[in-house]
Amino acid sequence: MFEATLVTPSRYDDFLRGNVKAISRQEQEGLKVFLDKGCVGCHNGINLGGMMQPFQVAAPYKFANVGDFKGDKNGMVKVPTLRNILETMPYFHNGQYWNIKDAIKEMGAIQLGTTINDEEATKIATFFNALTGKKPTIIYPDLPVMSASTPKPEGIMEGDVKPAKQPTH
Ligand code: HEC
Repeated sequence: MFEATLVTPSRYDDFLRGNVKAISRQEQEGLKVFLDKGCVGCHNGINLGGMMQPFQVAAPYKFANVGDFKGDKNGMVKVPTLRNILETMPYFHNGQYWNIKDAIKEMGAIQLGTTINDEEATKIATFFNALTGKKPTIIYPDLPVMSASTPKPEGIMEGDVKPAKQPTH
């Protein structure tokens, strides 16, 4: 239930709900480039990411020698969400890109086999502004000290919780 509150609603959500003015004309232009180039093939759904996809589809990643990134047994890796992307540099699994435009161009090269020019990268980066959302305020519950009369969660009786069995080596 707590995790379900960890969402960052953005102007993009208002746009998806039909308020076309929620994102600027420039951001809409960037969204169009994002769609036309095919980024949405992988960065899709409500989180613009989340599914498993292959990596280095069209060309090797420039910094493939840094770290270990093999993916699952089929070589599939998780497509990261692009929500709040302008606030979550450095980019890629090994954090080798600090500039969003360079990351966008690299994606075009390695995942789509296409060149993203500077103007297109700028437009896509402009669209990403619409994905910056409102962060939840996290208030920790201030719990009273437990005493003998503190009610236990329903269904759990004294003695129900048995010590875990120690593994035998
Ligand atoms: C074939 C699937 C695929 C396509 C197409 C694709 N991406 Fe990605 N994208 C990924 C995967 C997988 C990663 C994770 C790579 C990593 O961590 O090294 C990623 C990472 C990124 C990142 C870095 C995210 C982060 O948090 O570090 C950005 C930004 C990005 N993609 C933007 C784009 C843009 C813009 C396009 C279109 C030009 C695009 N992607 C096309 C699969 C794809």
